[in-house]
Amino acid sequence: MLKASALLAYASLGVAAATTFTSFHLREYRATAPCGFTEVGPAPQNKTLSLRLALTESDADGLIDALYSVSDPDSALYGQHLSKDAVNRFVSPQPATIEAINGWLEENGLTFEKLSPAGDWIGINVPVAQANKLFNTNFTIFRHIVTGAEVVRTLEYSLPDAIAGHIELVHPTISSDSFPDPTSMRAPYYHIVPSLSPNITTCLNQSTPSCLQELYKIPTAPAVNQNNTLGVSGFRGGAVDPAYIQQFLETYRPDVNPPANYTIYRIDGDDPDDPGISEGYADLEYTLSLATNVPITYYFVGMSPPNVLTTSFNLYPESVVSFALTDKLCQAYAQLGARGVTIFIASGDDGAGCSQDSTQFEPKFPLNCPFVTAVGGTQNVAPEQAWPGSSGGFSNYYPRPRYQDAAVTAFLEANGDRYIGLLNASGRGFPDIAAKADPHVIYAGVFYPVVGTSLASPTVASIFALVNDRLVSAGRPPLGFINPWLYKEGYKAFTDITTGESTIMCTENVTNTIEATEGWDPVTGLGTPRFDKLVDLLHL
Ligand SMILES: *[C@@H]1O[C@H](CO)[C@@H](O)[C@H](O)[C@H]1NC(C)=O
Ligand SMILES: *[C@@H]1O[C@H](CO)[C@@H](O)[C@H](O)[C@H]1NC(C)=O
Ligand SMILES: *[C@@H]1O[C@H](CO)[C@@H](O)[C@H](O)[C@H]1NC(C)=O
Ligand SMILES: *[C@@H]1O[C@H](CO)[C@@H](O)[C@H](O)[C@H]1NC(C)=O
Ligand SMILES: *[C@@H]1O[C@H](CO)[C@@H](O)[C@H](O)[C@H]1NC(C)=O
Ligand SMILES: *[C@@H]1O[C@H](CO)[C@@H](O)[C@H](O)[C@H]1NC(C)=O
Ligand SMILES: *[C@@H]1O[C@H](CO)[C@@H](O)[C@H](O)[C@H]1NC(C)=O
Ligand SMILES: *[C@@H]1O[C@H](CO)[C@@H](O)[C@H](O)[C@H]1NC(C)=O
Repeated sequence: MLKASALLAYASLGVAAATTFTSFHLREYRATAPCGFTEVGPAPQNKTLSLRLALTESDADGLIDALYSVSDPDSALYGQHLSKDAVNRFVSPQPATIEAINGWLEENGLTFEKLSPAGDWIGINVPVAQANKLFNTNFTIFRHIVTGAEVVRTLEYSLPDAIAGHIELVHPTISSDSFPDPTSMRAPYYHIVPSLSPNITTCLNQSTPSCLQELYKIPTAPAVNQNNTLGVSGFRGGAVDPAYIQQFLETYRPDVNPPANYTIYRIDGDDPDDPGISEGYADLEYTLSLATNVPITYYFVGMSPPNVLTTSFNLYPESVVSFALTDKLCQAYAQLGARGVTIFIASGDDGAGCSQDSTQFEPKFPLNCPFVTAVGGTQNVAPEQAWPGSSGGFSNYYPRPRYQDAAVTAFLEANGDRYIGLLNASGRGFPDIAAKADPHVIYAGVFYPVVGTSLASPTVASIFALVNDRLVSAGRPPLGFINPWLYKEGYKAFTDITTGESTIMCTENVTNTIEATEGWDPVTGLGTPRFDKLVDLLHL
């Protein structure tokens, strides 16, 4: 009886709720479709959308505090990286969030799938008609003008007041990166330079593994600690032929036998037989030949994290990825950093970049994230100079992190006037460091000379993997998120690059340049690493 009346009360409440006006919070908005897309019309009401919801983390700020306290050399907790569980305690949504989301989904007859181990990402499948009501929006068909490819997205969406505090973002909705645009620059895939002969043997014109070993004093002696791993991010279409990698190593590291020791984890849906020349060859051939005997994992996805991770693809202009999505992904880098992972990412190959209206420099995702270490490019030897393609700049999303205050302020004080109006001087500056991006040879069936910051990140990652090998063998923690240490201390082991410049032509016949200068600059950062000096600085 009691039960029945309770049920009745609930039912009448439900009716009341349904007739009550639900008020909404606007969560994300964009004025127009991304460049290159046109609006076709409303999406079919019965089409099912697979949406991902990022739930509010328990203590996102706490995670960032924890990250800095294990990464700042002056902190009492320096090097005391967090366990996976400790990180998840910051990231997992609070019980109140889970309860609110469960109630809201149940009320709407929906179920969800947990997409991340910490439970901060969930997935729902929902018809357009219902999604439009849930998020007070109009999902729309957009067509890519050149390719005709169609996609269902929206220009804005809102969250009901009652759950607005529990959801950070809904994806894919407004972020340009989720509009499939095969014609946009997606990656700094190394550039092939067909005019150069792969036979050049001088280090002035070509960075072979032995040239890099000589320039940066990278030892050829094998690493000893098999727990100290180096992760190489793979990507779809990045399949590699192990025979090719073996061929490269036999050519450039004949002293190491057996040379190639790496583990491949395939990404779902990747074609293992993709025979194309891929970024994978550059990344694997150089890490394997420089980080001698460091266990290397290719296609790192959700495996236990390596001590160093190098990524040379998936760069976007900053404005292409919505701030909410950028921030969520940046937070994921912070999680890895807190666990002790050093994340190197190639800074990109188009200088300071151009905003869509060509009036300003355009920073890049994910280098704008203050928790990654961005690697720019250099060329030549004696002196080693800025490579003209080396990307750098200042974020419009993230303010300058404290760790780079002194270095970046010094650059702006000396040079700021020259770039007024072209860049946002208050933002996070990148790259942080650099390495050679001039012609390298890769083997992918034949020897190709290639250039790009894609080559620089694997070199730096190899050097730090070897530094970590010594640290870990001495019973010390790996370096983890290095930026606070780099700007305070580590830069002393780097060669400051003070000549050369990055160039970009945004408007016909107008070339913008940024010169490398003494100290930090947004072309080569703090400079290029010297293994021998790193080892001295760290008393190894
Ligand atoms: C959606 O509705 C249209 C028109 O009523 C129909 O032709 C189509 O088969 C439906 N699709 C699905 C997936 O139910
Ligand atoms: C959705 O489209 C309808 C019809 O054009 C319009 O009345 C409504 O205001 C739109 N809703 C939103 C949230 O834009
Ligand atoms: C480069 O090396 C290849 C193979 O060793 C050889 O066939 C070719 O003649 C060389 N080219 C030059 C310009 O030396
Ligand atoms: C090697 O590099 C120097 C300096 O950049 C350049 O002058 C020379 O032409 C290059 N030689 C070849 C063979 O590319
Ligand atoms: C590697 O890790 C395993 C498991 O944690 C541990 O037992 C072993 O002692 C470690 N080896 C070295 C050389 O640190
Ligand atoms: C390859 O690496 C694994 C650990 O990742 C190690 O156990 C094995 O001994 C290595 N093999 C060779 C031939 O060095
Ligand atoms: C400049 O960067 C700051 C963050 O440091 C940001 O708040 C501001 O909106 C940016 N300005 C522009 C014009 O994007
Ligand atoms: C760019 O320079 C070329 C060659 O000097 C000239 O023909 C062209 O008109 C210029 N374009 C613009 C937009 O000034």
